[in-house]
Order: sequence, then structure tokens, then C-alpha cells
Amino acid sequence: MAWNDRLSVGIASIDKEHQKLVELLNNFYDAVQANHGKESLAGLLAALIDYTKVHFGNEEQLFAKTAYPEAASHKKAHDDLARQVLEIQKKYLKGANATLSIETLNFLKNWLLDHIQGADRKYAPHLTSHGIR
Ligand SMILES: [Fe+2]
Repeated sequence: MAWNDRLSVGIASIDKEHQKLVELLNNFYDAVQANHGKESLAGLLAALIDYTKVHFGNEEQLFAKTAYPEAASHKKAHDDLARQVLEIQKKYLKGANATLSIETLNFLKNWLLDHIQGADRKYAPHLTSHGIR
């Protein structure tokens, strides 16, 4: 998955975090392709999940700071993903295999693309008008 301008929400600080998420997703993808072992894959997945939480927290802080009207529904999308990802992680710890890895990759990639191009793009004008760059 390559970063491209269509993924930009027009706020440099957020774009940087999204780029990092793409990078972590790619690290995981590369390790799956290279047939890395369960520990290695679980570690990369954990890194991706941990940074996702940090990123969601940062976004939600900006929502609070600027009284973003859609904050509640956006936070719900974050919470839903966090819950689903915990389930995936649990399965992973039980036993990683190629099918689970591909499913996980596709799920995370699609979620990330949809979320960045949908919900995240929606907050851009609001945050920008409150001086967030
Ligand atoms: Fe978001």
C-alpha cells in the first residue's frame, strides 16, 4: 500500500501520523510475504495496533480541543475498530497462519483507506478553521 495524495486530509500533522500507519501496515505486509514466524508477525501487528491507539487518541484530543460536532460518531468508529482488532489479535496469539494474515491485512487496509478518505477527511475543514495544521 503506497501513500498518495488522495490519502491526504490536508493537515500536515495528521497526514504524518497516517503515513506512519501505512508504514507499519506495510512492515506487517512485508513480514507476511516473507513468511516470518508467529512471534515476528504478532510483534508487528502489536506495533501497528499500539500506534493506531496513539493516533486515535491524538485525533480525539483535537476534536475535544475544537469542539468538533461529529466527535461522538467518529470516536465510535475508532472504538469499534479497536474492539475488532483486539479480536484479531486474540486469534493471532492462538495461532497465526497465512489465511488469517491475509484476512487481517485486507481488513486493516480497507478500514484504514475508508476511514481516512471518509470520516477523517470530513473533520479537516473544521480543524483547519480552528488553526490546526
Ligand atoms: Fe479517525
